Amino acid sequence: EDNRIKRIASSIRVIPDWPKPGVMFQDITTLLLDPLAFKDSIDLFVERYKDKGITVVAGVEARGFIFGPPIALAIGAKFVPMRKPNKLPGEVISEEYSLEYGTDVMEMHVGAVQSGDRVLVIDDLIATGGTLCAAIRLLERVGAEVVESACVIELPELKGRERLGDRPLFVLIKAK
Ligand code: PRP
Ligand code: HPA
Repeated sequence: EDNRIKRIASSIRVIPDWPKPGVMFQDITTLLLDPLAFKDSIDLFVERYKDKGITVVAGVEARGFIFGPPIALAIGAKFVPMRKPNKLPGEVISEEYSLEYGTDVMEMHVGAVQSGDRVLVIDDLIATGGTLCAAIRLLERVGAEVVESACVIELPELKGRERLGDRPLFVLIKAK
């Protein structure tokens, strides 16, 4: 387990001052270039969630669309995309959330997730937690049970975990 975490951690590239000065950007595209590390990351999630009765894996745009589908296939759950506004063609429900500057909106198809569904929310990274909070609010509005949220990387200094309150969060790696 520890070896797998080390391989994953060392495959993530950190780009200083991107997209702006002072940000140390955690870039998971280099994890995707290492098939063993990518597989280890998926396996660790699958091992945790395979026997938890998860019926839906909800992936947050954009990088939740990379990690979510292989997990969903492996555990026999549906995959549901949580998207930026005006991307989904069917009827949607929306939730506004705050960013560092301004707000954004997340959308989900009506009917994709039902009351009683047991949902795992997946993204690549939690920073302030605003994005995961919006995803959880959308899912709870339709009566789903959000069993857990999971990310590859947590930036603990940004205290996103606190913003989630008592909602459980599982991460593979904590970064500075
Ligand atoms: C990044 C990241 C998470 C979110 C985390 O996505 O992939 O989804 O920010 O930030 P938070 O915890 O402070 O909400 P981004 O908003 O850059 O969108 P993108 O993946 O579509 O580029
Ligand atoms: N990487 C990816 N997404 C992010 C980051 C990061 O370092 N910080 C905020 N969103």
